[in-house]
Amino acid sequence: MKTFSTVRDIEPSADSLPFFTQRRTQKHLYFHYKLEKDDIIYGLGENMGNINKRGKTYVSYNTDNPRHRENTPSLYSAHNFLIVDGHDHFGVFFDTPSKITFDIDNTTDDEMFVRTANDNLDIYIITASDSNSIAREFLSLIGRPFMPPLWAFGFGQSRWGYQNEADLLAVMEGHKLNKLPLDWLCMDIDYMDHFKDFTVNKLRFPLLSRFVEKTREKGIHLVPIIDAGIKIEKGYDVYDEGIENDYFCHNKDGGIFKAEVWPGMTHFPDFFKPEVRKWFGDKYESLIKLGFEGFWNDMNEPSIFSSEYSRYQGRLDVIKSYLNPHHKEDKAEEAAHFDYHNFKNSVEGREVVHHLVHNLYGGYMTMASSQGIERHYDKRFLLFSRASCIGAHRYGGIWTGDNESRWDHLRTEFHQLPGLNMCGFLFSGADTGGFGGNCTRELLLRWLALSVFTPLMRNHSARHTRKQECYRFGHTKAFRNVLGLRYRLLPYIYSEFMKAALSGDMYIKPLAFVFSDEKGRNCEDQLMVGESIMIAPIMEKRQTQRKVYLPEQMTMVTYRNQQFSTEIMEKGEHTIIIPEDEVVFFIRHDHCIIIGKPAMNTSEVDLDDVELLGDGKEYRQYLDDGYTKNASMDNTRLCSRTTA
Ligand code: NOJ
Repeated sequence: MKTFSTVRDIEPSADSLPFFTQRRTQKHLYFHYKLEKDDIIYGLGENMGNINKRGKTYVSYNTDNPRHRENTPSLYSAHNFLIVDGHDHFGVFFDTPSKITFDIDNTTDDEMFVRTANDNLDIYIITASDSNSIAREFLSLIGRPFMPPLWAFGFGQSRWGYQNEADLLAVMEGHKLNKLPLDWLCMDIDYMDHFKDFTVNKLRFPLLSRFVEKTREKGIHLVPIIDAGIKIEKGYDVYDEGIENDYFCHNKDGGIFKAEVWPGMTHFPDFFKPEVRKWFGDKYESLIKLGFEGFWNDMNEPSIFSSEYSRYQGRLDVIKSYLNPHHKEDKAEEAAHFDYHNFKNSVEGREVVHHLVHNLYGGYMTMASSQGIERHYDKRFLLFSRASCIGAHRYGGIWTGDNESRWDHLRTEFHQLPGLNMCGFLFSGADTGGFGGNCTRELLLRWLALSVFTPLMRNHSARHTRKQECYRFGHTKAFRNVLGLRYRLLPYIYSEFMKAALSGDMYIKPLAFVFSDEKGRNCEDQLMVGESIMIAPIMEKRQTQRKVYLPEQMTMVTYRNQQFSTEIMEKGEHTIIIPEDEVVFFIRHDHCIIIGKPAMNTSEVDLDDVELLGDGKEYRQYLDDGYTKNASMDNTRLCSRTTA
């Protein structure tokens, strides 16, 4: 078996393969594992499915699919690590850069089949007595995750449609007038000149560095988007330099590959070449000089609308769409998949068809950006990407791509979170409220009540959809409550995130990773957040009550009218009522969390000034200045009832 040296530069530990039977055909490698009825499969990162991944076929092949549904096999990232928890107990990482299919108890009952596109594969097997230890072992193997600054844990507002300074100012004003906290605002593609990376539309942002500075004075960080495709335009320096130095991906049969994305025809930087990563990464310096401290990488599967090759394919699809309206929706996806066979990447001096290394492209873009930013900025920064692979977690966070304002997409995020954490993507979250479609007040409030606990908390929506800022829905008090809670919990969220990142643990876990009883094992609608919190949010329309299972006695915390109230609840099943304008969560028995004072922005959050909540006696807090690169477990202190 051969491997490419990739962002996953780790060594396989096993020579032979336990647990699986293997078969090789001319094209593929097949692996088979016999499942017992009660075995649970965890993991697979961003993949859509339940927490227990049984009953579905998943295909890791990074795909831009904004209209995903329950059976969608591929999303934006490839995270090929899973844990088998049952008669055997092990983790397995299929380290391969191309397509891989996991048919888990789907085509045939009680069987797991894994099929790779070719034999460019390393397999890592991890055994331990419990899932949490297996996950920890895997996290230590793949390396320490990206750690953003404190402000990135504040609330982020975003929309594809903010066109100019005035639009962004209006959002800041909307938050201020309505007393809604805010830490960062995204600038989508419209800030650029004709969607060209590292350019600025001077009509819309006449003096961007001043605007960034003024905004920072208000405590708000602006976060610009950068896309993978570089517009083909003579005289545009990024394009010219790319051509001059042969930095772009080549066609399979000669010439430079051209693909249509937002700017029209573009070339894709070949991020597999170290010199391209250096060049592209250094481009972020211009943004840093403008004052930006946070960045957002997009369209890096790479997403392709059409190309010289796939145009015909696209047309065919439009014809099909007349016959069947569903085909039209997948047009871009099909064109892209077709094109992944039409261009090449240069991997350690060898030209390989992109398809063979497809799942690493986005990860390499993130690596390029992250290392470039590191070279030009001396504090921790925010960076998140859409496409990723295992290993990319060291360089940036991810969001889960284009979703929709649908209740099942809220549940999708809930189910993705533990898998993402298992694969090192601790700094992650979905587009809160949904990207496509029109969000309702009820859906946004319920979604925010989940996002309160995700490290990346961003409300993002697409142009032409209903405006989705928290002050657009009337009765803003409920939004004040849920955003307010995020800021009061920030000392805990930040501390638990940093401790997990520094010690190689997950920040969000399935219940079964902490409690071994049968009910905990099969729980699909409750999660552990950090060491001490359990969440059981409402994720169904028009539901105001739900069942919750407490594996031990816990403190139920209600946040209502910006006040905490607590009640000790016995172990067992309970029905709890959660009106739209309240958030409820649970603290483990004999544990404490820390809460801070109300704040409108992280600059007002004093990590030193915390109180304990819960029936425990003490809490170990991680604290630093929120920026330092020297984060270490030495930066902890014990908060106890007497000192807090
Ligand atoms: C696709 C991204 O997923 C979305 O978040 C963004 O708003 C659009 N591209 C436009 O840049």
